[in-house]
Amino acid sequence: MPVPRTLEWIGDTDGFLRLLDQTQLPAILTYRDCRSVEDVWEAIRSLRVRGAPAIGVAAALGVVLGVQNCQEAARYGERLRQVTAYLRTSRPTAVNLFWALERMERCFERECRTGTPREWTQQLLAEARAIQEEDRRMCRAIGAAGAHLIGEGQGVLTHCNAGGLATAEYGTALAVMFTAAEQGRRFHVYADETRPLLQGARLTAWELHQAGIPVTLICDSMAGQVMKEGRVQLVIVGADRIAANGDTANKIGTYGVALLARAHGIPFYVAAPSSTFDLSLPNGDGIPIEQRDPREITHSFGRQTAPDGIAVYNPAFDVTPHHLIAGIITEKGLIQPVGEAAVRARLADKSEPRP
Ligand code: MRU
Repeated sequence: MPVPRTLEWIGDTDGFLRLLDQTQLPAILTYRDCRSVEDVWEAIRSLRVRGAPAIGVAAALGVVLGVQNCQEAARYGERLRQVTAYLRTSRPTAVNLFWALERMERCFERECRTGTPREWTQQLLAEARAIQEEDRRMCRAIGAAGAHLIGEGQGVLTHCNAGGLATAEYGTALAVMFTAAEQGRRFHVYADETRPLLQGARLTAWELHQAGIPVTLICDSMAGQVMKEGRVQLVIVGADRIAANGDTANKIGTYGVALLARAHGIPFYVAAPSSTFDLSLPNGDGIPIEQRDPREITHSFGRQTAPDGIAVYNPAFDVTPHHLIAGIITEKGLIQPVGEAAVRARLADKSEPRP
């Protein structure tokens, strides 16, 4: 069974955003209709839609929802800026959110100097759809660029979910696996469950299982032992924001996996589209790390698992320094070795993703 659509705009400029509610997976496959920008903000904040590229696409479509009822030309620009400022507060780490909102603002400045509010909304919907379509193409190209890294019979470990659910379609880290499988290679994936919200167990294991790729679920704390037993020859993860020197923010626990991989001599790769790079940051020190509700740890999935009043620290992401990363797989090809010159050179390539 193919993985269902992560998110989809239904209708024309007066339409709405339908997204797969990822908080309900894998037990319940259900969609949620967002009919206001507040609905989209809530969906992003509560991880109904999650994963850096998917957040960017959802935010772009959220802008359309925010302006679609504005009929007054004189107030349209102000409303657009209100909506983008509001959506920027939904989550801080994935740079795709800010990248997509900036694109929507630039589209308005460029395309909406003349015409009517309805035509402007049409332009903005076209731009949001273009962002979604480009993400699809970038994910396919990432798969094509990285598939050769997976050898016949290898074990591949991943952390969190960087699959079709986290993108417009197909994924980043999982795109590499899907493509290698399409090329006929057999390999085995170890999916970290990814505490505290279990994106690895609920989403990655589900996606790979659907695709018929052999996958074994492990607790995060088992990764070292699994590597020591020689079960893993390669690590591939996604990214939420990559600084100019290649330092990479991804789901909390990724840094630990990178250290374990280094200790066992296993190459650690990051897969991400160019929309995940933030070249305004020289290194990872400036990446904002989201702090989430302590109840995600003390009351996992509704059941109390820690004493009342206990102190909790719950950063949602960590930063893996570039020297631990063997290569970054982008839609423009592989960045290897990872460093500022190689990152800038690769991203400066203006050719379109191939597939
Ligand atoms: O908190 P989440 O589930 O949005 O975190 C997602 C991740 O960390 C992913 O690995 C990352 O966004 C890459 S998705 C292609």
